[in-house]
Amino acid sequence: MKVKKICCIGAGYVGGPTMAVIAQKCPDIYVTVVDINEERIKAWNDENLDNLPVYEPGLDKVVAEARGRNLRFCTNVEGAIQEADMIFISVNTPTKTYGEGKGQAADLKWIELCARQIAAAAESDKIVVEKSTLPVRTAEAIRDILENTGNGTKFQILSNPEFLAEGTAIEDLMDPDRVLIGGDTKTPEGLEAMEALVEVYGHWVPREKILTTNVWSSELSKLTANAFLAQRVSSINALSELCESTEADINEVSRAIGTDSRIGNKFLKASVGFGGSCFQKDILNLVYISRSYGLTSVADYWEQVIKINDHQKGRFAKNIIRSLYNTVSGKKIAFLGWAFKKDTNDTRESAAIYVADHLLNEDAKVTVFDPKVKEEQMYSDLDYLNSRNKVDNRKLMKAEHCPYEACKGAHAVAVLTEWDEFVDYDWQKIYDNMLKPAQVFDGRSVLDKQKLRDIGFRVYTIGTT
Ligand code: NAI
Repeated sequence: MKVKKICCIGAGYVGGPTMAVIAQKCPDIYVTVVDINEERIKAWNDENLDNLPVYEPGLDKVVAEARGRNLRFCTNVEGAIQEADMIFISVNTPTKTYGEGKGQAADLKWIELCARQIAAAAESDKIVVEKSTLPVRTAEAIRDILENTGNGTKFQILSNPEFLAEGTAIEDLMDPDRVLIGGDTKTPEGLEAMEALVEVYGHWVPREKILTTNVWSSELSKLTANAFLAQRVSSINALSELCESTEADINEVSRAIGTDSRIGNKFLKASVGFGGSCFQKDILNLVYISRSYGLTSVADYWEQVIKINDHQKGRFAKNIIRSLYNTVSGKKIAFLGWAFKKDTNDTRESAAIYVADHLLNEDAKVTVFDPKVKEEQMYSDLDYLNSRNKVDNRKLMKAEHCPYEACKGAHAVAVLTEWDEFVDYDWQKIYDNMLKPAQVFDGRSVLDKQKLRDIGFRVYTIGTT
């Protein structure tokens, strides 16, 4: 079967870029991305490509080429489902904030709603593709809903988890390490559906990079990949604390172990901790699933990755307080960066939010500059923690549009995101306008420490002395 029309439900950080690349690479396939969020769809359709709701290097060019040709963004979910022969589900699957599994399990209410919408609207057979990251065995629940609430049409369910990293999404989509497609390998219909999706990716991805597995392996592989990546960050971060106590240097240790081909050199940089919408939620989900199968030791093992990450964020904040003579009350502390990593405007679970919250609890005055994050987003991230009321958040924290203004009159500058531009700032100018002793806390190890020390800064970097 050859796919002619694709519908993707969810125009977020995954749905938007992924479908834009599919549309660009497959001019013979018509792609419609739908979302219930009208604002978001409006932004995807904005003439000015600077206003796209997702910031990703290179995304604007891909959208410019495909939008209006074979790529469309709209809010007509039902219509798009009816037209399509293949439907991707790319909606959010955050950690549950209520009830059974609160704080750990994935909240699948948006997934279930999608399945019900598909079942109600479909008038012909469809291939339904799980693009969202889902707990292993979710395809079973989706199948149950589709088969029991549909109009008698047939569905094939595939799992096709997305491995893109925000900040390099377009690069990752254009040249992926692999594409994973899980399906019902035991029936001819299942194999045919898998082949249809292989053929879509085959437009630009070499066949040997397209892996096919059973649906459960595919679902579990995505959680596993994120767990392994996050585990590397927590492992190196755990050792960074030991380096600070022993005068070993975490960067030297990383280099020394990373050259071992069995370990590899990626994801070995110590930092203030990982953030993003995926690592934490997916590991918590893995922990929850393991516990629900009675596998306590497995659950405890993975939970430790989260605990170290929380510890690292708290340790960074405590270190700032300690260095400022154990009180930050009324002191201005400038944050460079709010996004969870460079080259994205995504702030979900960003370490900056937690470090800010910790400092605000101590009555500090935090001023933030981030090249891509909007002020309202910063406040909404802080409000979401519910640590204090909205008025106090706005009183204690300010956003600045200029990094030099943000740092002016500050006791300390903390680097929370590794934006490239921070390195090239006029650090002498920043120093001249700060209170003394001027301190820099480089949570991402991006600045030239010696240069800063030569200017007169006191500099703290993670895992080094
Ligand atoms: P997101 O929150 O940016 O986007 C999800 C979108 O789905 C929202 O715009 C929301 O309005 C829409 N939506 C929810 N229910 C809907 C419905 N019934 N009908 C139409 N639209 C609906 O989320 P994001 O980051 O794109 O993540 C989506 C999935 O992809 C999640 O499961 C996530 O774990 C996974 N993922 C995310 C990655 C990332 O880097 N953000 C990477 C790989 C996977």
